[in-house]
Amino acid sequence: MKLTWLSDIHLEFLTMDRARRFFARVKQGRPDAVLITGDISTATELRHHLRLVAETLSCPTYFVLGNHDVYSGSFAKVDSVVGAVCRDFPRLHPLGNGEIVPLTAKTALIGHRSWADGRAGLGKRSTIRLNDYTLIADFRELDQDVLFARLQQLGDESAAYIDGVAREAHKKAETLVIGTHVPPFTEVALYEGQPSAPDLAPHFVNVPSGKSFVCWPAIFLRRNSSSCAATLITPLFTSRHPTSR
Ligand SMILES: [Fe+2]
Repeated sequence: MKLTWLSDIHLEFLTMDRARRFFARVKQGRPDAVLITGDISTATELRHHLRLVAETLSCPTYFVLGNHDVYSGSFAKVDSVVGAVCRDFPRLHPLGNGEIVPLTAKTALIGHRSWADGRAGLGKRSTIRLNDYTLIADFRELDQDVLFARLQQLGDESAAYIDGVAREAHKKAETLVIGTHVPPFTEVALYEGQPSAPDLAPHFVNVPSGKSFVCWPAIFLRRNSSSCAATLITPLFTSRHPTSR
């Protein structure tokens, strides 16, 4: 089973011709399936970029969205775009609605976009204002207290989802592959090659997911005394532009 992982491909910065050539190269690798962990495009271009993915790749493609995919739109708008495109292209599979995908007899794939919960590093005392908070309609013009309450809610929902689905998936599979856009630990939310600084970390990390993950070995090993493993597939982010993550 060959699963090809793509992340943060930002097709909005490519011409359609270059994007087609990129996917032709992916296809040359003869993947059995492709996993994309977010930042595929922006809300205004997501529809035709997802169509391009489906038209150029001939294998099943599993994906979660990232924060950039919601830019110039809202969560409701991108959810509706994803629903419409995936109805037209059965090879496209969004993750985040309870899916447990058997990759092999022993390995299952689950995924969720996840969202930074605002608690890492300086938390609410961070003075960073990501582009997310002006370009995503759901966050626009929220004051700091309301914004961070919303981030906590989104982060907690993501973490609860991943924890719950992982526990179900592990009843069926020894090994889990978990795709997310937001990492669960500050140590892997890299900025300029280093773990995110305390003012950036609240915007780049999902703390409650990290807390779940460290408890899993004990829970899963109790249930299945032979073995357990989980591989987290999430972008190791590195950039010079803290407001354009
Ligand atoms: Fe992102």
